[in-house]
Amino acid sequence: MVVVAILAAGRGTRMKSNLPKVLHTLGGRSLVERVIKSVEPLSPSRQLVIVGYQAEEVKAAMQSIPRLEFVEQTVQLGTGHAIQQLLPHLEGYTGDLLILNGDLPLIRTETLKHLLQTHQENQNAATILTAHLSDPRGYGRVFCNSENVVQQMVEDKDCTTAQKQNSRINAGVYCFNWSKLAQFLPHLQANNAQKEYYLTDAVTQVGKVMAVDVEDYQEIVGINDRLQLATATEILQTRIKEKWMVAGVTLIDPHSITIDDTVEIQPDVIIEPQTHLRGKTVIQTGSRIGPGSLIENSHLGENVTVLYSVVVDSTVDAGTKIGPYTHLRGHVQVGAACRVGNFVELKNTHIGDRTNVAHLSYLGDTTLGTKVNIGAGTITANYDGVKKHPTKIGDRTKTGANSVLVAPVTLGDDVYVAAGSTVTEDVPDNSLVIARSRQVVKPDWQKQSQ
Ligand code: UD1
Ligand code: CA
Repeated sequence: MVVVAILAAGRGTRMKSNLPKVLHTLGGRSLVERVIKSVEPLSPSRQLVIVGYQAEEVKAAMQSIPRLEFVEQTVQLGTGHAIQQLLPHLEGYTGDLLILNGDLPLIRTETLKHLLQTHQENQNAATILTAHLSDPRGYGRVFCNSENVVQQMVEDKDCTTAQKQNSRINAGVYCFNWSKLAQFLPHLQANNAQKEYYLTDAVTQVGKVMAVDVEDYQEIVGINDRLQLATATEILQTRIKEKWMVAGVTLIDPHSITIDDTVEIQPDVIIEPQTHLRGKTVIQTGSRIGPGSLIENSHLGENVTVLYSVVVDSTVDAGTKIGPYTHLRGHVQVGAACRVGNFVELKNTHIGDRTNVAHLSYLGDTTLGTKVNIGAGTITANYDGVKKHPTKIGDRTKTGANSVLVAPVTLGDDVYVAAGSTVTEDVPDNSLVIARSRQVVKPDWQKQSQ
């Protein structure tokens, strides 16, 4: 049995941000959410998140995650002080406590399992995760004997020049026997360079403590500033892209592509350069996305193509071609085998199968049937300055170039709209509507006017 505690109360001064550090995002999830994801498979009996700086914002950002308990650290006096706040919440608990810094977004579950296993097999009082870094600057240093038993831990700011040479660092993940830690916590002192209560000071006081090295040091990049955030982003992007390439997805020029780890891609999808896939996006097999496209929280069916376009909060069914230069937003649904083309913006619009909106249109709050053809430059005037109004267009209807459909308005099935019309009234099935003034030609006009 294990209880998990995540340290998320710090401001993250070095980020130079109004946003609390743990809410900065990486690959579509906040730093702290990533840490929580990494512990979930361990099925902890409780998950305590210590919040403090902008506590309400941090809690609100995590409200959809089940089974979290928030513990407030109203003043942030250090990582040891943060863990002191757990004392009233864990009274009588005698099992292990797994503590993780909230700014460790790349830690893997396997690594945590290995740490717990080592801790339990050796019946340690504490077991900590360490790494050997070629550039250990900024991290706390860990000094062990030849059996990996921890002798001393010194924060970077408290190190002597000689101690700074030690490349073994504290990753910020600890497994403690809670009873032993709880006994020592009230005795922590803040006599150090930062005048903080360090959790690291407790480590060597609780009994036998072992260090476990992480195999891949990339996992323990702690995010303190924007440079480390960029480093972590790059590491995560490499992980995500390798995963999809191994799973049968072609990435052309992977360096120019970004993919959130909330995205799902089926085999035989091709992602072209400068394309960004975000949020809860699904791309089905045979689709070709990009170059130069952004897909966010959208579902693209099989064999869809998207070229130089932005697709947000929308679904596109099989065989449809989007772009170049299309913008879908506000819950658009495009049916199968459609063409939505050049310089077209669709907002909250549903399109039936085999319908084309090929050139220079804006359709908002519109429902189109199947096999409709929207002529070049057709626009829905859906906004009267106060309210948005709907437009309905039946099956097989064709609008001429440069038509304006003034909503609310309904065009039936098999309607023809003459080019240049401004349609303000409903049109029944099978009709032709001409809503523009008749052309007047005045012969010899130029001579007369001279
Ligand atoms: C900490 C460790 C250091 C380790 C490094 C790994 C200590 C004293 N030092 O240093 O040995 O090498 O992590 O990345 O623990 N926090 C609170 N309340 C506080 C202070 C911090 O909840 O009062 C939280 C922060 O939100 C953060 C985490 O604790 O998620 C770590 O704090 P941070 O200031 O980043 O510690 P480091 O200086 O990086
Ligand atoms: Ca840190």
